[in-house]
Amino acid sequence: MIQSEILFLKQEEVIEAGLLDMKQILDACTKTYELLGQGEIINHPKTSTRIPDPVNWTSFFNSMPCYIGGDIKVGGIKWACESKKNAETPGIPYGIDIEILSDPDTVLPFAIMDATLITAMRTSAVAGLFAKYTAPKNCKVATLVGAGVIGRTALMAVNETVPTLETVYLCDLDLKKAEDLAAEFKGKVNFEIIPATDSKACAEKSTLVITQTTSRTPFVTKDWVKKGMTFINMAGFEMELDVLRESNQLFVDYWTQIITNSGKAVTKLYNAGEIKKDDVVELADLVLGKHPGRKTDDEILYCSSMGLGALDAMIAYAMYKNAKEKGLGTVLKQWDKPLWE
Ligand SMILES: NC(=O)c1ccc[n+]([C@@H]2O[C@H](COP(=O)([O-])OP(=O)(O)OC[C@H]3O[C@@H](n4cnc5c(N)ncnc54)[C@H](O)[C@@H]3O)[C@@H](O)[C@H]2O)c1
Repeated sequence: MIQSEILFLKQEEVIEAGLLDMKQILDACTKTYELLGQGEIINHPKTSTRIPDPVNWTSFFNSMPCYIGGDIKVGGIKWACESKKNAETPGIPYGIDIEILSDPDTVLPFAIMDATLITAMRTSAVAGLFAKYTAPKNCKVATLVGAGVIGRTALMAVNETVPTLETVYLCDLDLKKAEDLAAEFKGKVNFEIIPATDSKACAEKSTLVITQTTSRTPFVTKDWVKKGMTFINMAGFEMELDVLRESNQLFVDYWTQIITNSGKAVTKLYNAGEIKKDDVVELADLVLGKHPGRKTDDEILYCSSMGLGALDAMIAYAMYKNAKEKGLGTVLKQWDKPLWE
């Protein structure tokens, strides 16, 4: 009889399996976009259950299923949740996620693990990849807006993918959060981190701006935009549509999914008939070398991501394999013997 054995990994064990190694995460994300671009991944757009309703939500549950083919061959689903209340409650993250991995032949689940930090690592790895292909040559000064969970991993990501950076302004409405992160990363990254609250003033001194805030209203306005800048918009509502209209090229993580989210700035322009699919470049094309990304020093570039379930499954699978080698985790069973076959 085929046994139902599920390896459960709590967050500490996922970390012990190597999750906080940003280089490894960037490799896993690059491989995911390669396979996506080669048609080896099935990644349905995420569905979002927003409570109490899609507009006035205070929390949501996203379901993110996928199948990764190629030499990986694994099914996965992330249950990705966010709560505004958590943002004001000490001791609980704003986003809380869990991943299930399944064998595509038997369809038995073989791993369940905390994916809260997988989300944080892969989200900023995507920002890092966008920056790698779109940041101005010799980019020295960047502004990161949002010093929360994703802000922390954004520092890790740009440290790997934009080696020319000398100064990063880390902005948050809550200066203490930015100061604490700057202190945590002092000496651990290749650039100086300057904590600040006035993100517009910092952006004026920067050529790369990455936003990862919980803001529900746009604060990056047209007057932030100048020639040669790259804007990377990791959350939903931070940038005015005029920032996109001023941009010479638009980049997204995955067109098929992003246009299902009417809140995304790219989707708003698409729904208004201002852009079409061919006006937008996907990250898979950058990773596969089908598109160069930035073409000239003067271009204004805009990138947007919604997050891909396949990234989570790819990383979770890598962590599962590492955990098996290290003997980590707790084995669970779905049943001793299935009652009805
Ligand atoms: N694209 C993706 O794949 C993806 C994945 C996960 C999370 N996200 C998004 O990233 C965002 C951040 O998530 P998090 O877990 O880091 O949240 P968090 O609560 O840990 O941090 C958000 C930070 O943004 C700050 N902030 C809010 N409004 C601001 C403003 N106008 N200016 C400056 N700072 C401001 C808050 O003070 C807070 O420190 C969320 O909107 C989330 O939906 C995107």
